[in-house]
Amino acid sequence: MSANNNKDLNTAVNPTSNTAVTTLIMLANAGYDKASEILEYMGIERETFFRETDPNDMLNRPSDIVRELRYVALNRTIEETGYQNLMDLPCGYTPKVFEFTAKGMNYNGCDLPAVINDFAPLIESMADDEIKNRIHFSVVDVTNYESMKAAADKLEGPVCIATEGLTVYLNSDEHTRLFRNIRRILQEKGGCWLNSDAETVEYYMAVYKAVAKEKAGELMRAVTRGFGSQSDTNFVQQHAGVAQQRKEGSWSVDYDAIEAGYKKLGLRVEKIPYYRDDLQLRLYSKMSAEEIERLKENIKHVNVWKVTADPDFDDNKKIQQKTEEIGDLPFEVKSEVKDGVFSVSIRGRMDTITSPELLKQFREAGEVKEIRVDVSQMAYVSSAGLRVLLMMYKSLENKDRFELNGVNDTVREILETTGFDQFLLKEV
Ligand SMILES: C[S@@+](CC[C@H](N)C(=O)[O-])C[C@H]1O[C@@H](n2cnc3c(N)ncnc32)[C@H](O)[C@@H]1O
Repeated sequence: MSANNNKDLNTAVNPTSNTAVTTLIMLANAGYDKASEILEYMGIERETFFRETDPNDMLNRPSDIVRELRYVALNRTIEETGYQNLMDLPCGYTPKVFEFTAKGMNYNGCDLPAVINDFAPLIESMADDEIKNRIHFSVVDVTNYESMKAAADKLEGPVCIATEGLTVYLNSDEHTRLFRNIRRILQEKGGCWLNSDAETVEYYMAVYKAVAKEKAGELMRAVTRGFGSQSDTNFVQQHAGVAQQRKEGSWSVDYDAIEAGYKKLGLRVEKIPYYRDDLQLRLYSKMSAEEIERLKENIKHVNVWKVTADPDFDDNKKIQQKTEEIGDLPFEVKSEVKDGVFSVSIRGRMDTITSPELLKQFREAGEVKEIRVDVSQMAYVSSAGLRVLLMMYKSLENKDRFELNGVNDTVREILETTGFDQFLLKEV
């Protein structure tokens, strides 16, 4: 079996795919029948996820509302763009596929291998013939342009790329790559990117202030700790790649600075409010009239960011020059074990799609006392690749016996921005 089809290896290199089922469960609880049906097809019993609404439950109830609010606001915005093609990035397990094919759109669900390997066959078994030919799935790592391009090309003409629940899991280097890849896709195909995550702090706080009032700050702190435990990134520092500050339980984010960051990468931002007079949530039935009023008021300043590409912007040459130094080589891992020494050379991009292979070879090596990694031909390393290097490093009793050799400028820059240089690079 290829390492890429192995669920255990896939989730080990990037545990964020485990978060994908959360929204599905929350939507099922909010009363979305298709969400319950997907869970049923996944073999998850209703009793294991269904909960009666408890107004005193300050953990699950606000989280359910947050998810439904974001889902409804984003879906409405997708519809309003009028595009025929939806690239759901990342799709997780949500029922968008049914909502949008029912509206006559073509759909491509894009996510990491761990999700797509499960979700694609499941939806294919649920879908009827009428919509089957409008449904696609693609394994995509957002840091990997080739995977994004292959996915976008399954849809003919301009695309609406829709994102929810992704960017909080990316480190700042991954953000930059996501932005660049999105820009290139939009320049080539036309269309827009709807990022409902851009104001994550705001929509969480809008709901928390509506239902938990003075406990809102406390809940926000708990949720950011949650994000932190599901990825290696520090949500507070990395949110949209720009640091934000917390002041006495309230959060202040410099959205102008964030928007300037988009612009620097050739992306234009238009802000589409979550709020509409006619906005309806199914969970209103589980909220008091005061809570609903407070929520409506609070979301007036929260936006989905509709992003389009500046057609004249071009930094691809600069990037090409950089990768030419290493060459655009296909990914390859070559390893051997001799006298307890695991020696490995890695070529190409090490991201969520490719790094399961390294983990597989490392696990097959058994117990080792020394590790030598040659990264001279490594073109890029994402947080998934870093995670595997970290697992290897941690497995050693004597950490001094971990060697990273041939570190080129690209890899060094990533190690330095993520702080991994502190332990993976000897000379630091
Ligand atoms: C919280 S889930 C959100 C999924 C879906 N949009 C939803 O609302 O349920 C986060 C998703 O991001 C995906 N993900 C994380 N890192 C990714 C990457 N580098 N490329 C593509 N998808 C990624 C995970 O596999 C997971 O499905």
